[in-house]
Amino acid sequence: MTEYKIEHHTYDVVVVGAGGAGLRATFGMAVKGLSTACITKVFPTRSHTVAAQGGMSAALGNMGPDKWQWHMYDTVKGSDWLGDQDAIEYMCREAIPAVIELEHQGVPFSRTEEGRIYQRPFGGMTTEFGKGIAHRTCAAADRTGHAILHTLYQQSLRHDAVFFIEHFATDLIMDEEGVCRGVLAWDLANGILRIFRAQKVVLATGGYGRAYFSATSAHTCTGDGNGMVTRAGLPLQDMEFTQFHPTGIYGAGCLITEGVRGEGGYLTNAKGERFMERYAPNAKDLASRDVVSRSMTIEINEGRGVGAKQDHIHLHLEHLGPEVIHERLPGIAESARIFAGVDVTKEPIPVLPTVHYNMGGIPTNYHGEVVTLKDGEPDSVVPGLMAIGECACVSVHGANRLGSNSLLDIVVFGRAAANRCAETVTPGATQHELPAAGVEKVLARFKRIHHGNGNTSTAQIREAMQHTMQKHAAVFRTAETLQEGVDKMNEIYASFNDVAVKDRSLVWNSDLMETFELANLLDCAQTSIQCAMNREESRGAHAREDFPDRNDEQWMKHSIAWVDEAGKVSIDYRPVHTYTLTDEIEYIAPKKRVY
Ligand code: FUM
Repeated sequence: MTEYKIEHHTYDVVVVGAGGAGLRATFGMAVKGLSTACITKVFPTRSHTVAAQGGMSAALGNMGPDKWQWHMYDTVKGSDWLGDQDAIEYMCREAIPAVIELEHQGVPFSRTEEGRIYQRPFGGMTTEFGKGIAHRTCAAADRTGHAILHTLYQQSLRHDAVFFIEHFATDLIMDEEGVCRGVLAWDLANGILRIFRAQKVVLATGGYGRAYFSATSAHTCTGDGNGMVTRAGLPLQDMEFTQFHPTGIYGAGCLITEGVRGEGGYLTNAKGERFMERYAPNAKDLASRDVVSRSMTIEINEGRGVGAKQDHIHLHLEHLGPEVIHERLPGIAESARIFAGVDVTKEPIPVLPTVHYNMGGIPTNYHGEVVTLKDGEPDSVVPGLMAIGECACVSVHGANRLGSNSLLDIVVFGRAAANRCAETVTPGATQHELPAAGVEKVLARFKRIHHGNGNTSTAQIREAMQHTMQKHAAVFRTAETLQEGVDKMNEIYASFNDVAVKDRSLVWNSDLMETFELANLLDCAQTSIQCAMNREESRGAHAREDFPDRNDEQWMKHSIAWVDEAGKVSIDYRPVHTYTLTDEIEYIAPKKRVY
């Protein structure tokens, strides 16, 4: 291994990723006196959280009555009863102190006339268990993620967390007993490999939207933590559930926040009809995202799409007036002008459902500890390893996430992970030697990929994967289209053995970095499409035309999937947590969803 310059580092905790979840955890751990390093492949304030627009849900009741129990009910219903109710209770209760903390830490939320945090309606967020429309989503205009991310980075620096910026974490270092002992990272700017040893490694690496061709996710959303976990022999959970956001800009895929519809915007088809009134007579344009995305797709498939090719839908906000748009939605006015050439005060935005969020990921409990199915025990904690944010599956979103529950998830569970580490990590404790075999394994993989000597470029394999996922793991699925996709994905997965890395340098080698990212995406895509093929029902974002109904008797369970080095996927199940944490709310039993 003399080819590489290697440096060793020891911290109490190492967090991988500097989006909202990673930064909230990093800063929380540093405050609690743990030596904390945060490894991030981009500069922290460029992490994908910066793109979150509409807001963060919390039942503050600033603009009308609200209760965390109503928020919990909406989240369970939105999840189509696949969410774990203990975790959902935790998230909805903790939302309130978590958002107040953010305000005190400096997040510049928009304000009501009385000076309280401004809250807007969002899809699926109701009062009194579905009766009224809640104003629950706390917003900083339409740049809420940007505001939160900057505040959390400033707080992390203030509390002396150490950042390894523009470092790419490639693999976990596991010992023979299955304990996570550290992580290997590549310093992109100078080519050094850094071996981190820690009492806990916390993965906060975000989603894997870039397994698809059109996504609102940044190009950096490549499932890096998920890939590390599969290579450590651990499973991913509920990977079949991919959320399509109803309003990506047609052609460009950029997000137009649901906050537009929260402020009174609406969708029309080629006839100028507000078609959501037919599909969801109560919630209309503010039905949950799975419902709106499916309705738009049906309109297009039945020939009522707009434009020359009748292949998209119009989103109107002209009627809101320039003042409201300027004050509450300035960012989307800019995006629509740049990416669709549209002046939103005068004309509608062309939109299309676009991949936005991965409900599935690394299974965890509500403390952020990674869990697995081991010796028949479904909630067996993996020592030394935690996961938070979009890379994790807590599971608070189940089969479908409600808009504005993601900023909430990252802040609440980033905070929970910091609290858990404060309970379980002894500051400065002497750590085990790193397992020699574990270190050898991750360095050997680094070298193998670095010297990839095949004939197929990373870009070719990536493009084939993205088009296959876009076409075969789409809004509507059937056994036939999925099977075709599974067959293609098996070939694409195998083609990685022939990958060509042309650039052998270790300094800003984007060819090599994209190859590592591709390996992670392939694991995500492979588990995602095979779990979709396996789940013979429709639930939340997983809409099977050949199995149109939800089947609670057989399928109210989490899929967990392992993928081996050859790309072979094995699937098993964990039970949904059908219990709550306290007696302040009872278990919410499944019922038919009415919109
Ligand atoms: O529409 C949006 O602003 C996105 C929010 C979310 O995904 O939570």
